[in-house]
Amino acid sequence: MNKLVVATNNAHKLSEIRAIIGDDIELLTLADINCFDDIPETADTLEGNALQKARYIYEKYGVDCFADDTGLEVTALGGGPGVHTARYAYADRHDPKANTEKLLRELEGAADRSAQFRTVVALILGGEEHLFEGIVRGQIPTEERGTDGFGYDPVFAPEELGKTFAEVGPEVKNEVSHRARAVKKLAAFLKSL
Ligand code: IMP
Repeated sequence: MNKLVVATNNAHKLSEIRAIIGDDIELLTLADINCFDDIPETADTLEGNALQKARYIYEKYGVDCFADDTGLEVTALGGGPGVHTARYAYADRHDPKANTEKLLRELEGAADRSAQFRTVVALILGGEEHLFEGIVRGQIPTEERGTDGFGYDPVFAPEELGKTFAEVGPEVKNEVSHRARAVKKLAAFLKSL
């Protein structure tokens, strides 16, 4: 196996993933395989969504592939927004700016600002399914900090760094991030084959 489709067109994610997987495996995006579909993500867990996306690609294109799904799990919000992280502010669309603003609003005055980012990667290789999980624990600051990255990066500060992902930039982020941890497990599995 030397080619693997990643179920994303997000350039940020792709470069994070490429930096970990290395050059031995050629990573193809959805655009590379001419997939411009709005892939359904209707499951009620991260595991379910990651598998749903990977199965969609595998069944339609017959290629080895992996998909990830990520949720921000905030203690004071009972583990939410979790599987609803992308559409936290608006149920019908992804508005990252509105999402971070809503999060800060919901946590106004909260004593407990702990949270974790959790990523699940679903790999389908030769028809077999494998799941890998990555978790990073941290805190939600009281205001946005930093300008690097994407999504909730300015409002999540991992324990290991004490600064937000948006303050440290991609290299440092990749050392501890939820997705990096899940993708490192995936990379180790692929190397072991
Ligand atoms: P997805 O499952 O990767 O599509 O991500 C779900 C939601 O979490 C989206 O709102 C993303 O912007 C957000 N998200 C995923 N990964 C990260 C990250 O590494 N930093 C900040 N936000 C993220």
